[in-house]
Amino acid sequence: MRNNYRIISNREVSEGVFEMKVDAPLLVDAVLPGQFVNVYLPREDLLLPRPISICDSDMENEVLTLVYAVVGEGTLELSRLIGYGEEPTVDGVFLEIFGPHGNGFFYDNSYGPRDEVLLIGGGLGVAPLLFAARVLADGHFVADMPKKISAYLGFPAEPWYLREFEAFGVHVHAISDTIPLASSGGRVGTVVDLLNTEFDTRGLSSEAGTCALTCGPQPMMKTVASWCEELSIPLRASLEARMGCGYGACVGCSIEVKADENADGTGAGLLRRKVCVDGPVFPAEKIVW
Ligand SMILES: Cc1cc2nc3c(=O)[nH]c(=O)nc-3n(C[C@H](O)[C@H](O)[C@H](O)COP(=O)(O)OP(=O)(O)OC[C@H]3O[C@@H](n4cnc5c(N)ncnc54)[C@H](O)[C@@H]3O)c2cc1C
Ligand code: FES
Repeated sequence: MRNNYRIISNREVSEGVFEMKVDAPLLVDAVLPGQFVNVYLPREDLLLPRPISICDSDMENEVLTLVYAVVGEGTLELSRLIGYGEEPTVDGVFLEIFGPHGNGFFYDNSYGPRDEVLLIGGGLGVAPLLFAARVLADGHFVADMPKKISAYLGFPAEPWYLREFEAFGVHVHAISDTIPLASSGGRVGTVVDLLNTEFDTRGLSSEAGTCALTCGPQPMMKTVASWCEELSIPLRASLEARMGCGYGACVGCSIEVKADENADGTGAGLLRRKVCVDGPVFPAEKIVW
């Protein structure tokens, strides 16, 4: 689905991090948590789309939310667009969006029912986990609601979106690399420090178990994967790769993943997969970190 959608608002939520809301009646009930859209900028020299994860989809109000960091020309251009809800004189700018793309976090129903789902995010990776929280909280696309949803979120500076997670009934733990927060007992550190100090391993032996979703910088996710492996917590990770077309037509985003073993223990080698169509979410045990 490739269409023009009117921008409602485009505001800075933290230094260099913007939240854009668009009127997207055709998209809101077609998207799944962990999927992304390709955003085309209204400038001919910025031809390639910019892949941005879906941060939230509010079906009731037909509003799609994207959160992005300004890192280069394209995202800088994006940050300059004005929504109709922001200035009475502005009619609103239309943005060309193509999507949804990718598989999303819940590519099968093996995540429900569960005792607890952990949402483990770092930096911009916090954004797509909010949509996962919404869906888990209302039991919309997953088999059953988990008994508990916990978020372990790490930020490079001031945290953002904590209240939005709490609004979905999520138990939020946040930490910052640079600023002591009350939610981390005044400590600074990484999300893995937070998991090591705040996560209670006592419930791990129950049958329905715990599972985890992660999104964030690759080194963070790699450490999270080791932490989960040690505790036998199944993990799904949303990967990023530099993209060209953004929808499977080139090989710009291909990566190597581990193949399944045959029953006789043979055949486990490496396979090439495209992050834009086969991912961006992969089971952590298949990822070559
Ligand atoms: C599946 C996926 C989901 C993403 N979700 C988000 C998100 O929710 N919020 C967010 O801020 N960023 C996200 N990114 C990263 C975002 O796409 C890049 O930061 C953005 O494309 C940079 O564009 P630019 O023109 O500002 O930077 P430039 O570096 O000037 O970009 C030059 C070219 O490289 C491509 N490119 C640069 N960095 C990346 C990258 N990391 N991934 C893919 N292509 C890249 C651009 O699309 C462009 O074609 C995501 C990337 C992927 C692959
Ligand atoms: S970006 Fe072209 S195939 Fe994935």
